[in-house]
Amino acid sequence: MLGIETSCDETAAAIVTRDAEGRATIRSNVVRSQLDEHAAFGGVVPELAARAHVTWLDHIIAQTSREAGVDLSEVDAIAATAGPGLIGGVLVGLTTAKALAAALGKPLIAINHLEAHALTARLTHNVPFPYLMLLVSGGHSQFVLVRGVGDYERWGTTIDDALGEAFDKVAKLLSLGHPGGRALERVALSGDPKRFAFPRPLLREARLDFSFSGLKTAVRLAAEAQAPLSDRDVADIAASFQAAVTQVVAVRARQALQRLKSEHPDMPPRLVVAGGVAANRAIGRALAEVAEAEGAELTVPPIPLCTDNGAMVAWAGAERFALGIENGLDTVARPRWPLDTADMKVNPHAA
Ligand code: KG4
Ligand code: ZN
Repeated sequence: MLGIETSCDETAAAIVTRDAEGRATIRSNVVRSQLDEHAAFGGVVPELAARAHVTWLDHIIAQTSREAGVDLSEVDAIAATAGPGLIGGVLVGLTTAKALAAALGKPLIAINHLEAHALTARLTHNVPFPYLMLLVSGGHSQFVLVRGVGDYERWGTTIDDALGEAFDKVAKLLSLGHPGGRALERVALSGDPKRFAFPRPLLREARLDFSFSGLKTAVRLAAEAQAPLSDRDVADIAASFQAAVTQVVAVRARQALQRLKSEHPDMPPRLVVAGGVAANRAIGRALAEVAEAEGAELTVPPIPLCTDNGAMVAWAGAERFALGIENGLDTVARPRWPLDTADMKVNPHAA
């Protein structure tokens, strides 16, 4: 399976095989990040992203074919992210996939980017259904019950900023660059997480949703009150912010696992993490503690497969292809596409 990913600021393509037992082999996985294109703007500029995908995608696909030692005429099908994401970029990847499918006479498989994240733990660890997924990236923060391919139930989401976005905005405020999640984690190591008592939004509510905008405002006000910020202030703010979000994520994960256990008492509870924030070690440690306390198995795929990549798209395509799914060349690109919609179902007529 060839997989193409262009929904945000990574131009990516990969070739993945899936054997009869459902085990995966990543034959090649090429990712070109557009960090340099967007650095000067402090965020991803959609038009620049789309243009960079146009410039690079052909080369990335040729490289992935070369590195895998697989000619494009040899793949069974071509999978591409069809949404959700920045529409210009999605169009570049999906249209390229359609052109390849038409020229090579191969089936096209349109992939929901969130499904690709949701199924990555099966690519890397062969995790059986059902499991709970926590997706924490620059664009999404959600809990999803993954019951099967195409069978998703969203249990909670963010009502404002995504977790990675909150990291990035606080990092920007502290002049740590963009995207600043990693830099923030680094300076937080030397900070005092107790110096600022930042709010833990929604923590007392039973719902599994997140909210980070009030926290972000509290951080901004604290930073303004301390200005000009010393290195110590920056480290303490970063550490206090990270402590707040870590606690929020841990409490939510515990609630979600408890719900999973009560709804599926017959199933061993499993929690799978996806998205770039999975790289955060404080959050990772907190999730490991929660999983252990709840008797749940925790799976964190290798970080390069948690962030956007082509292998996860190829894998989602392979899982769908194995179930006989194909999409027509009239498939549209979608800026919004929640996972729990009827058209995600593998066989909507039987459902
Ligand atoms: O999955 P991903 O590549 O995002 C999207 O394409 O949306 O993840 C990127 C996000 C960014 O917001 C970045 O700041 C955050 O993940 N991130 C981190 C860390 N590494 C990456 N956030 C906190 N701690 C980290 N170590
Ligand atoms: Zn993503």
